[in-house]
Amino acid sequence: MDLVIATRNAGKIKEIKALLTHGDFCVHSLAEFPNLKEVEEDGETFAANALKKARAAAVFSGMPALADDSGLCVAALQGRPGVHSARYAGEGASDAENVARLLTELAPYPAPWHAAFECVMAFCTPDGKEQLFHGRLSGRIIAERRGANGFGYDPVFLVPEYGKTLAELPLDIKNRISHRAQALRQVIAWLQTL
Ligand code: IMP
Repeated sequence: MDLVIATRNAGKIKEIKALLTHGDFCVHSLAEFPNLKEVEEDGETFAANALKKARAAAVFSGMPALADDSGLCVAALQGRPGVHSARYAGEGASDAENVARLLTELAPYPAPWHAAFECVMAFCTPDGKEQLFHGRLSGRIIAERRGANGFGYDPVFLVPEYGKTLAELPLDIKNRISHRAQALRQVIAWLQTL
């Protein structure tokens, strides 16, 4: 099956390709479709954004497409930063600035600060078939940054089972337990039933 991965993020393509080796998939990236316009991620939910990206890629390429949207949801902040995770400290904010804003917002609340990374993957075909998959990694936000791996909020996201932040865990462990990996495993199991 031909499958377009609807992201320009090289890290995500690599991660998805690595997991898709188990099936008979011919994986394409958006690099093959340079004229596809950037989709504005203005949805209120991860699902809305993932669907928007997958639909656009499927219609434009004429092939089934897979897109993901993800972010950090913190209980004390009623689920924020959520869909705004990438730009929590403002448009174009760096990872360090987003983490700083998160810690500032959380400071008035008593720890432990329960949180989860959420990921929704959307599969869409050009003729309008759609399916959603959901992955979640639970943990806690800590006030000090620990570790140098990963990206985003990884240095302050503690995974209790390991007693380490995602930025302290080797990438192969993160890629096994992450919200994205969990969603992707469901996608693959489902695709193989088609
Ligand atoms: P997107 O799915 O690329 O739109 O990611 C949205 C934002 O959520 C990222 O820019 C990060 O701030 C955050 N995020 C998503 N997944 C992770 C992760 O695995 N680790 C750390 N931050 C993440």
